[in-house]
Amino acid sequence: MCGIVAAVSSRDILPVLIEGLKRLEYRGYDSAGVATLTRGSPVRRVRAVGKVAALQAAISADPFVGTIGIAHTRWATHGVPSERNAHPHVSQDGIALVHNGIIENHDALRAELLQSGYVFTSETDTEVIAHRIHQHLLVTRDLLAAVQLTVRELHGAYALAVLTEAEPDTLVVARSGCPVVIGLSDGENFVASDVSALLPVTKQFMYLDEGDVAAVHKNSVVIYDSAGKPVLRKTHQSALSAESAEKGDYAHYMLKEIHEQPRAIAQTLEERVVGARLLEAAFGPGAIEMLQRTEAVQIVACGTSWHAGSVARYFIEQVCRLPCWIDIASEFRYRDPVVPKNTLFVTISQSGETADTLAALRLAKSAGYLASLAICNVPESSLVRESDLVMLTRAGPEIGVASTKAFTTQLAALNMLVIALGKQRGAIDQTRERHLVERLIEIPRLVEETLKLEPVIRELAKRFVDKRHALFLGRGALSPIAMEGALKLKEITYIHAEAYAAGELKHGPLALVDADMPVVTVAPNNDLLEKLKSNLQEVRARGGELYVFADPESGIVESDGVTVIQMPKHVSYFQAPIVYTIPLQLLAYHVAVMRDTDVDQPRNLAKSVTVE
Ligand code: F6R
Repeated sequence: MCGIVAAVSSRDILPVLIEGLKRLEYRGYDSAGVATLTRGSPVRRVRAVGKVAALQAAISADPFVGTIGIAHTRWATHGVPSERNAHPHVSQDGIALVHNGIIENHDALRAELLQSGYVFTSETDTEVIAHRIHQHLLVTRDLLAAVQLTVRELHGAYALAVLTEAEPDTLVVARSGCPVVIGLSDGENFVASDVSALLPVTKQFMYLDEGDVAAVHKNSVVIYDSAGKPVLRKTHQSALSAESAEKGDYAHYMLKEIHEQPRAIAQTLEERVVGARLLEAAFGPGAIEMLQRTEAVQIVACGTSWHAGSVARYFIEQVCRLPCWIDIASEFRYRDPVVPKNTLFVTISQSGETADTLAALRLAKSAGYLASLAICNVPESSLVRESDLVMLTRAGPEIGVASTKAFTTQLAALNMLVIALGKQRGAIDQTRERHLVERLIEIPRLVEETLKLEPVIRELAKRFVDKRHALFLGRGALSPIAMEGALKLKEITYIHAEAYAAGELKHGPLALVDADMPVVTVAPNNDLLEKLKSNLQEVRARGGELYVFADPESGIVESDGVTVIQMPKHVSYFQAPIVYTIPLQLLAYHVAVMRDTDVDQPRNLAKSVTVE
């Protein structure tokens, strides 16, 4: 969480920093700050509680400029959201620093620094870094060396950008466990937590590796690895446009991203399914051999990505006839897993920077898994770089904190994994492959068709606006979709929502059902439909209000207390999880708009959870 931006140039870089912060606001938005420097003048620092707009207002009240600067948007971990705790943090002699991550040994460092006479003005773990750099700088007289010495003493995760009045042309940046990208340009260079912050100023990027520290000047970037050896890192040309991370005519990023799903899914399938065949090579070099050897699958992810994995589990078992386990990364990383022979380790993540998922991957590497496969939306992310095999979802930048297009493209990628595994394991023959691939290719059109339900769902949303609770039900591969629907509703509307596999209802949650409890159900026409209908009867018998997204041939009819929303016809088993997600996203979105919540940046959350 938290976003950092920095720039060094010979022009005023304040507008670049502010625009960059706005583009990173999805990473955290409880306070923001900026510090700039111009040769011969002291560091200017402004901080404000709230979003970047509040920081902008504070700057407009007393404008200033700078040719070098650092900026930060915060998601509080240590210390409440307040101006005092907002970054940049400073130390003596004009040192200023921004930090993303968590320093685990900050208490010990703070105690030492207090003894040495340093005064702390915040409750953050970050301030110790600023003072420690100052302490080293007194000896080294060189910012780069001081930062290199300091980072060796830090336990935890960090992305840092530092400046000092003593070296008014130098930015020093460091990375361990949190992303840092350097944007290159003519006569000026930039730094940020991700490329989207810098797209208006450059398309050329260099990514720091774990443990790297870099000295960034307006005409040069010199990178050192964790051993202090100068290293070259590759330059990448980003294919993203500055507009790809803008919301255009849509009222919110989330709505734009919901509507982008047909294209995002089509792009994810492109070049990977050719004719009616799947190209396993799309999972990377060596994939075919690994898939052939796979005898079991362990999936690990967080939140929405975990829901995607939970759907895939049903398919991997049913279609590939392989054992499959799915775990939440924050739990998995502290387990001591028993690893059956030839188990493929699969991580799923939109950002590829989720701390728990990354930690799980690192644990898996020494636990004896066959290989690791990442399904991820960010090509240069840590997860991608650290995995043996990769399938990139091609959703494009997802800015709304509530994940939408990243989720459905993950499901599409996982469907491809199911086909690839099934084929290599001999569970799928050519005819079945053809059939499944044809179903995959139809998904973008089915999603397009489902999006046409938006006016109906907008009307339906009115019935949820004043509710305090909601239940979501599904069965089989659709029960994780019910969970995803409940998560979307709770995270952006703040209505308490729970999801259950419908058969579980009578084992407890049915006690909650009364006339005030809306029960949202996803009911495609599959072999569990009749079972699901019985569960719906159980709800109706207790006076619960049912909202059923149903196949037109499901035989579920509208009646008193039962609202049926007709979904597209003939959605197959393989397609249903993606298609039935769409109305649940739209429902959450329209309820949130009617409740006037902050749709794109819901309270207490952040997009990229780079801390544990
Ligand atoms: C919810 C949501 C989160 C993320 C979770 C994992 O809408 O977006 O639950 O899915 O924080 O993030 P990634 O997928 O980036 O690892």
